[in-house]
Parts: sequence; C-alpha cells; structure tokens
Amino acid sequence: NVHLKGKDFLSLKDFSAEEIHYLLELASELKKKQLSGEIYTPLYGKTLAMIFEKPSTRTRVSFEAGMTQLGGHALFLSSDDLQLGRGETIADTAKVLSQYVDAVMIRTFAHSKIEELAEHATIPVINGLTDDDHPCQALADLLTIYEMKKKFKGIKLVYVGDGNNVAHALMIAAAQVGMDYTIACPENYAPKQGYVEEALRIAKNTGANIVVHHNPYEAVKDADVIYTDVWTSMGQEKESVERLSIFQPFQVNAELMQYAKSDYIFLHCLPAHRGEEVTSDVIDGEHSVVFQQAENRLHVQKAILLSLLGS
Ligand code: CP
Ligand code: NVA
Repeated sequence: NVHLKGKDFLSLKDFSAEEIHYLLELASELKKKQLSGEIYTPLYGKTLAMIFEKPSTRTRVSFEAGMTQLGGHALFLSSDDLQLGRGETIADTAKVLSQYVDAVMIRTFAHSKIEELAEHATIPVINGLTDDDHPCQALADLLTIYEMKKKFKGIKLVYVGDGNNVAHALMIAAAQVGMDYTIACPENYAPKQGYVEEALRIAKNTGANIVVHHNPYEAVKDADVIYTDVWTSMGQEKESVERLSIFQPFQVNAELMQYAKSDYIFLHCLPAHRGEEVTSDVIDGEHSVVFQQAENRLHVQKAILLSLLGS
C-alpha cells in the first residue's frame, strides 16, 4: 500500500518510515536484477531531465546510467547551457520542462530553489543535492548500512564533521529507520535547528536517539558506523582556509577510530579529501565501504525513479 507515483523527492522528511523501507527493498531487488544481468526496462520511453548547477560524478553518472538500464533516457543540462543561466525564471523552466519530460532531477544551491521548481512543475522533481539536503545519498547510505549490519535498531552512527547537507539528510534517514545518530561538529557548524527538530519529531515514533555533540572522542565511543564528509562543501570555497583549521580536531583518523567498536564500518559520500576530513589509512582501510556505498547510489536511484515514474 505504498504509492509514490507522481510525488517529488526533495527530502526524506517528506516520506513515511514505511515508504523508506519500501524504497530500500525495491533498491535491493533492482540491485540483484542488475548484478544477475537481467534486462528490465519498465521506464521505456520515459525521459529524465538533469539540471546541474554544481559539479558531480556519482549523481550524474548513476542517474544517467540508471535511466538507461530501466529503458529510459536522461538528459544532462548544465545551468550554463540552459536559459536559466541567462535569467529565465525557475517557474517558466518548470512549466516548459513538464511538457517534454517525465521527471526532473536538479542539483542546486538554495533549497528554496528546488521547492520553487517543485511548486511549478507538474512532474516529479528529485533532489540531486542542495545546500541543505541530499536525500538520494542518505537512502544509499541506509542500504549500505543495512547490507553490512543487517539491522538499523541498536546501530549507532556517528557523523564527524560539518553539519551540512549530507549530515542533515543522514540525520533524518537515521530517525526514520530508528537508528541512533550522533553528530560531532564544531560549535558553529552544527546542523540547522529545523532539521534537528524534524529528526527529533520523527525519532519519537521510531525510538532513534539523536544527539548533537562537540567532542569527537566522546561522540565516537561504541560507534558501529563512522561517517564523514568534506570540510568545505561546493559553494563555500572562500571559507576553505578557515575551515581547515577549525575542523582539524574532527579528522577521522586511526587514533579517533580506536574509540569506535572494533567492527565499525566507515562511510563517506565522496568525493573525499584524503589528509583533511579522513586519513588514507581509514578510507582505504579494511573498515571502509565507500565504494559499495557509491555503487548503491545507482540501485537506490533506480528505485526512486521507478517508484515516482513507474506504471
Ligand atoms: N556523493 C555525491 O553526491 O557525489 P557527486 O558530487 O560526485 O555526485
Ligand atoms: N557536502 C558536500 C557533498 C558533496 C556530495 C557538498 O555539498 O559539496
């Protein structure tokens, strides 16, 4: 009784726990099909427009390959090439694209921009990352954690670093599936209050423990999953020197990892900056599942596309 057809995919806040579990199961099924070489083309004849206002490797290639595998087509549109870059409004762009394609994925800056696009589009809008959220990433992270740990309840995930888009999405995702989530971040780089409140609200129903911490050593204690992301996100390049020193105590390295459980797994959304937020021995070490995690972007996004666009 899960019906996602026609919905937007802007944030995991907008979905029920049941819908998230459904998407994860569908992603697992699609992963099996893909790995067995089965051809499965339920989106034959469908087109996805992909607008990128920031660079991307994983999101772009996995969405494009995912549409091809499902029998559809994906169009890469950089904002510089669209009239959007010359001042055409989001609303006009949304109305026009809605008449040509079946869904639009956008990677942009302000989260309000994707909300505006969704308001004016009559087709599903998918969030490929905004300054505030990255729901496709968080869903792939859940799939990876489930594959490795076989459960969510009782698992402690510790995100070490910037309270950014990835940290927000992961906090909501953890709350939805009842997984404990602790973020260790510098005082002035905490997740937005709105996201924390939303996560706490969701966690009331699922029993997840959501904690904002500022001491990485205490936070990491008994962690099953360690997660970090870059210290300087796309669009923050001017702050990079300042951030380098502020975040130094939050580096994920062998010393910090002594406090995690001995069977901890390490996740990173990628791209990574080795020697900054994480040292090479950790990200390239035996606890790291970052490439399995990156692979899962493909399977999860195919599940999203099929659910929003399928018959
Ligand atoms: N993790 C992620 O979204 O990667 P890209 O920026 O390469 O898409
Ligand atoms: N926080 C990073 C994630 C990149 C996938 C950024 O926004 O640049």
